[in-house]
Amino acid sequence: MAAKDTVVIVLAAGKGTRLYSGVAKVLHRVGGRSLVEHVVRACQPLKAADTIVVVGFQADAVAAAVTPLGAKTIIQNPQRGTGHAVQSARRAIRRSAKFAVVVPGDAPLLRTETLSALIAAHRSGDAAATILSAQLPDPTGYGRIIRKNDGTVAAVVEESAASPEQRAITEVNSSIYCFTLDKLWPSLASLKPNNVHKELYLTDAIALLNERRERVLASIAPDPNEILGCNTRASLADADRIFRQRKAAALMDSGVTIYFPESAVVDAAVAVGRDTVIEPGVELLGNTKIGERCTIRTGSIITDSRLDDDVYVEPYSVVTESRLANNTRIGPFARLRPGADLREGARVGNFVEVKKSVLHEGAKAPHLTYLGDATIGAGANIGAGTITCNYDGVHKNQTVIGKRVFIGSDSALVAPVRIGDGAYVAAGSTITENVPADALAIARGRQINKPGWAAVRRAQIAKELKAGSKAKPRKKQKSKRPRASRKSSRRR
Ligand code: UD1
Ligand code: MG
Repeated sequence: MAAKDTVVIVLAAGKGTRLYSGVAKVLHRVGGRSLVEHVVRACQPLKAADTIVVVGFQADAVAAAVTPLGAKTIIQNPQRGTGHAVQSARRAIRRSAKFAVVVPGDAPLLRTETLSALIAAHRSGDAAATILSAQLPDPTGYGRIIRKNDGTVAAVVEESAASPEQRAITEVNSSIYCFTLDKLWPSLASLKPNNVHKELYLTDAIALLNERRERVLASIAPDPNEILGCNTRASLADADRIFRQRKAAALMDSGVTIYFPESAVVDAAVAVGRDTVIEPGVELLGNTKIGERCTIRTGSIITDSRLDDDVYVEPYSVVTESRLANNTRIGPFARLRPGADLREGARVGNFVEVKKSVLHEGAKAPHLTYLGDATIGAGANIGAGTITCNYDGVHKNQTVIGKRVFIGSDSALVAPVRIGDGAYVAAGSTITENVPADALAIARGRQINKPGWAAVRRAQIAKELKAGSKAKPRKKQKSKRPRASRKSSRRR
């Protein structure tokens, strides 16, 4: 790896005009991480003396993305081109540095090994500059590498300035270079804004080095995808797709089964244990960690969550900032919102929403339920349609359900409320007071049966229909209620 005589300069001050965005280009995301974060992470293992990120447009936000990774930042203001960006970094470079690796902040697929190889090629090639180039079937948009007969590089020509012959060249500039600093500075000082944008192009330094009889080499990247620069939304989508293909491949290599891997959306930081199965159309996002032998079925989206081993996620479940212990099972169509904490063997079924709630060992809420700000004791059974009424319009209140409690279907638990261990709540109850342990709580209207009511009603309707078909249509007919009904309503 690179030694202490090398610094890394990341160019990340530009706006990214071609993205038509309110957000700086290098903060756009690929694989769930900002472009500049990908680049800085690829540089970290080089163990360079410093990693200096040149910031300008939305400088604070870009700095906030890279300083936690140990990078330093330097301001380029105004942003007058890639050559000017490197000039701006000069004041942050320590005197002991001999070499600089320059990388653009918009190349998220770059790998550490490729940078190491570039540095090695530069050192052994005894050059003033070594460019990482790539052979692209479609070189549109990139600067072209102009080689001399001896194979060294004469110049880099930007597409806008290239002749038709030069445009036909398929070897392109990646904007990733290794420079010998004392040879670079004089050429950089001679840059002129000789282009449509009136900027100082770093690429022009290559021809200037040649004028000074310095040697410039280009080393071709083994994988041309690595140099992809995200100038447009289309290239951003390409980089994201390629990144996720790589991620899925790496997971499969480590023992994860992924069906239709091209449909798996897995973010950079996600970890998955072996023998876990990921079905089509699954998204694993943010800082999600999944253990071994889990199954994540079709269409489920898991964000910033931790799943232990043997967890089964049925289709179309949405899990955010939640914790699922061993042998838990959720879905289909479960929604776990932040703070859902399912302990070993707990079960959350279809159309159940859980927020900031603990379901202790073996607790179950199999269907159509809302549990918010609740603690559900071990082995408790929450019937279909149960709602914790946690919000009184001002405060969020707690519902505490004891061990082995049975909540009958369609119950409303008006918080704050406690249901003691082993208690039963009758179906359809609205519970507003605490229920002692082992009690049965019933809180609903009593049932009344009205014998024969329906038969009387049907006979009456039939009679009315018969009379109506003989008589002329009347304007409005007073409806008569059946006798049984009137009688019983008086009784009430
Ligand atoms: C650049 C190269 C081009 C190469 C391509 C590879 C130049 C002139 N052209 O073009 O030869 O094929 O990269 O992707 O260098 N930046 C600053 N300050 C500035 C301007 C830019 O920090 O004043 C940063 C940007 O934020 C970006 C990087 O430099 O991260 C490269 O700039 P960009 O505008 O993307 O250059 P390209 O047009 O892609
Ligand atoms: Mg670019």
